[in-house]
Order: sequence, then C-alpha cells, then structure tokens
Amino acid sequence: MSRLGIFDTHAHLDTPHFDEDRGVLLAQIGEDLEGVINPGCDEISSRFAVELAEKHDFMYAAVGWHPGDVKGIKDDSYLEQLAKWAVHPKVVAIGEIGLDYYWKDNAPRDVQLLRLRQQVDLAKEYNLPIIVHDREAHGDIMDFFREEQDKVKAVFHCYSGSLEMAKELIKWGYYLGFGGTATYKTAEKVREILAYVPVEHLLFETDAPYLTPVPHRGKRNNPLYTELVVQKAAELKGISFEEMAVQSTKNTKELFKKVK
Ligand code: NI
Repeated sequence: MSRLGIFDTHAHLDTPHFDEDRGVLLAQIGEDLEGVINPGCDEISSRFAVELAEKHDFMYAAVGWHPGDVKGIKDDSYLEQLAKWAVHPKVVAIGEIGLDYYWKDNAPRDVQLLRLRQQVDLAKEYNLPIIVHDREAHGDIMDFFREEQDKVKAVFHCYSGSLEMAKELIKWGYYLGFGGTATYKTAEKVREILAYVPVEHLLFETDAPYLTPVPHRGKRNNPLYTELVVQKAAELKGISFEEMAVQSTKNTKELFKKVK
C-alpha cells in the first residue's frame, strides 16, 4: 500500500514538461500513490504511455487520439496500431477520446465524430473502458452516449457539464472525473456537482501538467497533487480522506479492470 492509497486516473507524464525530472518524480509517485493512468493523445504520446507502463508497476496506459489531434490522422490504419496496444496487459483503456469544439482549428465536427465512433467501437471490441474528453460539446456528447450507455464503460474526465448532465451520466452508469478545478475559487459549480455525485461514481485526477490545484496554481501540475483533490472531495462529502481514498481506489479498479 502506498502512503496516500489513491490513484491519479489522468496525467500526461509523457509530455516534455516532465523531461527534466521525470525519474525523480516517478520515484516519489511510486511511494505515495497506488498508481497513475497516463492517457495518450496521438501515436507518439500513446507509445510513450505504454513504455512508461512497461517500466513502472504503478504506471498504466490508455491509448487513443484526442479530439484536438484527430486532424493528424491520415487514414484508418491508426486503428490497427490501437488494436495492437489494446491487448497489452498494461493498457487499461482507450483514451483520451471525445469531442472538443472549443478550439477553432480542431478538425471539423463530422471528422471528430467519426474518429470518436471508430475508437469507441474498437474499445467495445476489446472490452476496454474509455476516457472521454468533452469540451464545449455537451449536446453531441450526450446524443452519442445516450446510444452507447449499455455498451461501453466510461469516465468523463475533468467533468465540465451541468448538474442535469451529470445526473443523466450517473443514471447511465458512467464515472465522473474531478481534478484541480474543484479547488478553484471561481469553480463553485464544479464543487456543487462534486458534492452531488454519489461516491461510487467519482474518480480523481490531475490532468498534469495542466490544471494545477490550489495552492500551487501557476506551477506545473503533477500526480502527487491528486492528494489535494481527494482532500477537497472528502471535505465536500463530509467524510474522511481515508474513506474517500478507499472508495475512489475501488472505483478505479472497477472501471479499469486491468489495474492491479
Ligand atoms: Ni488530458
């Protein structure tokens, strides 16, 4: 058992932000956390995530093409690469995948929807859960998953939808991922939703190197700060850190079946 007994279910340790001290950080993560799931965003980052998972017991990979990166896909052969990774014992999910209508230079919506459809179908074929990225695409995301609710398991990472949307997702059996934003002064809505979501549907994450929690805002985020998110969630739920740690670790293993 690690010092904190918690997972960071979403961190990008493959990014260059960690090139200078990745080894030191990984050693500390191995002491403090149960594990980290590193999602890929394209071929290079997915491969890096798999390599990290091969080198460290506590690291797990998800593989996939992020909606912000699907415009780089040349043809459907990327699915063959995904299929090879899908059977790897430490590849625990397909992700992160989804829809991102925020950035105007992302692929057109029909292209994003096609790549989401293909990757979700592949996840179902290999019986893997998915990690969903949804930014300013709530309507299309809900239309898509209304049809998928009993066919694929998922976490909606860094949840940013409404309370009504959260209620639907919970009804469909999905998990909601919460990170550093829950600690931001202006994020009252996020805390309100977090306080509402039943503990059986909660997962915690950092999305490092981004979205650093209070009091470290302005600095690079890292998986060790998951502690601050779990602490905030425990406060909002009126339970102890330990209870929240045990429950969220149980949730992590229930969704990501290959996580030990
Ligand atoms: Ni991410």
